Amino acid sequence: MNKENSNRVLKISILRFDPNDPEDFPHMETFEVLEAVGMTLFIALNDIREHQDNSLKFDFVCRAGICGSCSMLVNGRPTLACRTLTSKLDEHITLAPLPLFELIGDLSIYTGKWMRGLNKRLETWIHDKEMQLSIDKLEEAMDPDLADEIYELDRCIECGCCVAGCGTIQMRPDFVGAVGLNKIARYHLDPRDKRSDEEYYELIGDEDGVFGCMTLLGCEDVCPKDLPLQSKIAYLRRMMLRTGMKS
Ligand code: SF4
Ligand code: F3S
Ligand code: FES
Repeated sequence: MNKENSNRVLKISILRFDPNDPEDFPHMETFEVLEAVGMTLFIALNDIREHQDNSLKFDFVCRAGICGSCSMLVNGRPTLACRTLTSKLDEHITLAPLPLFELIGDLSIYTGKWMRGLNKRLETWIHDKEMQLSIDKLEEAMDPDLADEIYELDRCIECGCCVAGCGTIQMRPDFVGAVGLNKIARYHLDPRDKRSDEEYYELIGDEDGVFGCMTLLGCEDVCPKDLPLQSKIAYLRRMMLRTGMKS
């Protein structure tokens, strides 16, 4: 139901905590905000910071679902706050930081550190020794359908929602998550990447990789970019099984 014209007073309960303050402890704090037409959680949080508590910490950069910095738990579900209209929510809203990532304070988390570690571990760049040796070498034209398929997977904004929505990571802290598996699927599809299936097997052919995924499906449910995570994980699992049987 669209509640945009109801002049509601929203009650926004926020999990507050400053991990750098030894005196502080995690606690909920509730703010009242008069809802405006077209209000997003970004606008509501700015309203709170401007008029009620300028110490409230949260992250926003693009406000357009592109940078991935505003991910948080909205009523317990990982999502992007800048793309969430308050009119789609009941008047009592609960906000908390995404779990599993380093907490900076309140709703602000450090996903960049986790993502950098993942990218380093999975070597998420094109591996082509010949291309590196010859800067004059022209890139071969790519089939447009394949380019589209790769572009689709490149739309990941590293927001961390799929990581927060996956039960496996709670049990296996080194699990690469749907974000990591999506990246590997992207590079495996790319004909410019010359890594062999065996080299990919080294990266994700274990329980911290594709065999750790228990098909819980939370990742695809919460991905704000609607990436086809399930089909790509299934594709990798088939590829890894074939490679594992050969070796
Ligand atoms: Fe976010 Fe989706 Fe990328 Fe996961 S796969 S980090 S949910 S955009
Ligand atoms: Fe986790 Fe998604 Fe697999 S939620 S267990 S990565 S299907
Ligand atoms: Fe960039 Fe929300 S502020 S995705």
